[in-house]
Amino acid sequence: MKAMTYRGPYKVRAESKPEPKIEHPNDAIVRVELAAICGSDLHLYHGMMPDTRVGHTFGHEFIGRVEQVGGSVQNLKVGDRVMVPFNIYCGSCYFCARGLFSNCHNVNPNATAIGGIYGYSHSTGGYDGGQAELVRVPFADVGPGIIPDDIPDEDALLLTDAFSTGYFGAQLADIAEGDTAVVFGAGPVGLAAARSCWLMGAGRVIVVDHLDYRLRKAQEFALAETVAFSQVGDIVRELKNMTGGLGADVAVDAVGAEADGHVMQHVTSAKLKLQGGSPVALNWAIDSVRKGGTVSVMGAYGPMFSAVRFGDAMNKGLTLRMNQAPVKRQWPRLFEHIRAGHLRPSELITHRIPLDHIAEGYHIFSSKLDDIIKPVIVPAA
Ligand SMILES: NC(=O)c1ccc[n+]([C@@H]2O[C@H](COP(=O)([O-])OP(=O)(O)OC[C@H]3O[C@@H](n4cnc5c(N)ncnc54)[C@H](O)[C@@H]3O)[C@@H](O)[C@H]2O)c1
Ligand SMILES: [Zn+2]
Ligand SMILES: [Zn+2]
Repeated sequence: MKAMTYRGPYKVRAESKPEPKIEHPNDAIVRVELAAICGSDLHLYHGMMPDTRVGHTFGHEFIGRVEQVGGSVQNLKVGDRVMVPFNIYCGSCYFCARGLFSNCHNVNPNATAIGGIYGYSHSTGGYDGGQAELVRVPFADVGPGIIPDDIPDEDALLLTDAFSTGYFGAQLADIAEGDTAVVFGAGPVGLAAARSCWLMGAGRVIVVDHLDYRLRKAQEFALAETVAFSQVGDIVRELKNMTGGLGADVAVDAVGAEADGHVMQHVTSAKLKLQGGSPVALNWAIDSVRKGGTVSVMGAYGPMFSAVRFGDAMNKGLTLRMNQAPVKRQWPRLFEHIRAGHLRPSELITHRIPLDHIAEGYHIFSSKLDDIIKPVIVPAA
């Protein structure tokens, strides 16, 4: 079969690979119809993620058709069209029982913090991902859901990661009615978070980025006020000025480890690998919320120490909430919002790319060319 494979930092290509096989009675094999590239894939592409092996296939945001099922699979049959959450999880361990699907204890022998993720290096279990014609889906009775007839394919696709993650980011922010929310990052996750803040009752939503085309999207898609951090001297002061001097009530970090905006943080993380990511956006979030406010962290950080302004967070009495999103938990509410016409996640998709051109897709997305927001790979194209 054809699949995206990793060759080294900034090098990926589509090539032939053996077809995945059923390895356990609760596995399914899914023929991928649509697979997105996520901002998280860029951390792999840039060589930031430990134990990303040559030949690994990325892709943790995909939908497709069930091609084969193992002997114990009961909830899926051949021919079903499924949306597959990015988390791989057993559904029955201590953590899964508490809805912490992204922290499953049974799927990743290489770490105790994070569970399994498709196509996300051996640090998250070494499972091949969905940027391919076929993918093995472990615990087929647990993660995948049948795509409801009234949910369009591209909306379902974005519910397998980016949109559910943004929605979860807004949920963790604990928004009270009328709150002012600041979202750092106008990528797919930040745009979804900003839009979701309104659904949680926010009275004001401000999005911060430095890419004008993404800030324009934040105005159109998320009906947000926007600030380009590159255009203001001090983004924290600017946000305080915009919020009556006290700061926003809540903030969402939808940027993560590869944040721009601070040269030393960039050098010590991306270049020297002295910290598990540059916490520029997180520090701005901590500094720009009011005392007693909440910071929700969706941006991904590596396992190592990061230079976070923890003392400020402590002394301001902030609540910090975070996790990899347990995406299936968000689906029932998001289905209702889509059905009611409140949301159309697919409006974030800007590029549809054949699998053969995946190298170009990664390059455009990584370099933020061609006004790209969300690229989708179409294996059958
Ligand atoms: N927690 C989860 O479950 C989960 C799921 C999906 C993605 N993520 C993470 O969320 C983050 C965003 O993902 P995405 O797909 O939207 O990525 P993306 O790369 O498309 O978007 C990131 C945006 O942040 C902007 N940015 C850079 N530095 C900034 C700063 N200092 N302040 C404000 N904005 C800044 C960039 O210009 C870009 O528009 C990534 O770290 C990704 O790994 C986490
Ligand atoms: Zn992702
Ligand atoms: Zn589990």
